[in-house]
Amino acid sequence: MGDISSGSSNSCVKIPDIKFTKLFINGEFVDAVSGNTLETIDPRNGEVIARVAEGNKDDINLAVKAARRAFDHGPWPRMSGYERGRVMMKLADLIDEHVEELAALDTMDAGKLFERGKSLDIPEAAHCLRYYAGAADKIHGATLKMSSAMQGYTLREPIGVVGHIIPWNFPTTLFFMKVAPSLAAGCTMVVKPAEQTPLSALYYAHLSKLAGIPEGVLNVVTGYGHTAGAAIASHMDIDKVSFTGSPEVGRLVMQAAATSNLKPVTLELGGKSPLIIFDDADVDTAAELAIEGGLYNKGEICVAGSRVLVQEGIYEKMTRKLVEKAKNWVVGDPFHPDVQQGPQVDKQQYEKILSYIKSGREEGADLLVGGEPCGEKGYYIAPTIFSDVKDDMKIAKDEIFGPVMSLMKFKTIDDAIQRANATRYGLAAGIVTKNIDIANTVSRSIRAGTIWINCYFAFDCDAPVGGYKISGFGREQGLDGLYAYTQLKSVVTPLYNSPWL
Ligand code: NAI
Ligand code: MG
Repeated sequence: MGDISSGSSNSCVKIPDIKFTKLFINGEFVDAVSGNTLETIDPRNGEVIARVAEGNKDDINLAVKAARRAFDHGPWPRMSGYERGRVMMKLADLIDEHVEELAALDTMDAGKLFERGKSLDIPEAAHCLRYYAGAADKIHGATLKMSSAMQGYTLREPIGVVGHIIPWNFPTTLFFMKVAPSLAAGCTMVVKPAEQTPLSALYYAHLSKLAGIPEGVLNVVTGYGHTAGAAIASHMDIDKVSFTGSPEVGRLVMQAAATSNLKPVTLELGGKSPLIIFDDADVDTAAELAIEGGLYNKGEICVAGSRVLVQEGIYEKMTRKLVEKAKNWVVGDPFHPDVQQGPQVDKQQYEKILSYIKSGREEGADLLVGGEPCGEKGYYIAPTIFSDVKDDMKIAKDEIFGPVMSLMKFKTIDDAIQRANATRYGLAAGIVTKNIDIANTVSRSIRAGTIWINCYFAFDCDAPVGGYKISGFGREQGLDGLYAYTQLKSVVTPLYNSPWL
């Protein structure tokens, strides 16, 4: 493994002061009703970065009241889409002005690479805002072709007060993947960031006020899932919930929605995505895609290519290349520009990953590289590759959410399709081949929401993402991601010669 400089931060990076630690409700930073706070921990060393307000049901109630008032009586849903778009553009500009500070917050909170935050996560959040800002004045209905002497059209209206429950692996990206389209639609909202990563969300709340988003439109309540999160899911006055996280909690959210006010939910619940490499692939390109697909963001990404299916003709060669790459992969302080992998987000995730590695060994998979923690402190795990992984092993079935890759050998195209689909999940898949017929056949046969051909992680604001099977349902990004925050209303009226008149 490469350099380990865990714990100490690189001296060239200015570690920001933590400016915002309170709940943001109705345009003001306030303490939790209970006065309680929770610790947010630096995964580089296990030390406390800051204490932030611990919101619970009482605080969610206050935030929902503010959001309801802003929706029912405030200017945001009533102003033109063009005006909303202009405010959102301003927020995007403010994000651009604070890229380093925002990237540093996510690095401290989640162990994410600072350089990637600066070049990708934070600028892409501004991009996402601008994409939806540009759509805010183009939310059209349709003119209906009525069969009798009637006139009909549809209106797309904002769905109302939205609850967003966000995980810790992409605190900025997922915040805006939910907040930007719902703002554009004219909704008001309560956002609950993950308890592990509350810092950037509170900063975005501050910037939203500077940008001119009116009070009550965007409320941020930090707190735990079983208290604050559950209060969102079961709230009678929230009109829709958007959740990203584990299938276990996704089920609870859906149950709470079902037994409260039957609010619709969008659920994005992770995956066990296959990257399928065919014999004709360029081995260097394929190896690069596989290593990024498996290790990017320390494997803590819902679309990780955690099952790498390689055709038998290049299996040995590919294995050698991947092992070499994993050995040279630099694990260490995520503030350091040369580091490729920081610490796992917290102790719980770190222990979960190590227990999967143990089970892979016990079930007879061949451990080629890694398999151990690394560094003297913090939650670092060496990039890990198992070979000869069978479909029924736990490491092949469960989402590990860590830097653990399973290599599997296949013979034919049908074999590849069958094994790629042999999972309860269906979020994404990658295909590496030069043969267009193989690419077309396989991409249409895989039951997953996103297929990347000769690329991986090729996200774009305009490309919808979401799951088949237990990866969830509903789509985010693209115009589908915007319509998810609208209600569709049909308006019908008789024409002059109608029998109704
Ligand atoms: P989680 O599903 O518990 O947490 C995600 C969010 O849901 C957090 O904001 C949390 O506070 C909230 N939450 C937790 N319990 C809740 C409840 N009862 N009602 C409402 N909200 C609740 O995920 P966790 O425990 O952090 O990670 C466990 C596993 O889940 C990971 O190892 C990974 O496999 C998967 N995961 C998938 C993600 C994805 O991108 N789809 C993101 C995070 C985790
Ligand atoms: Mg949990």
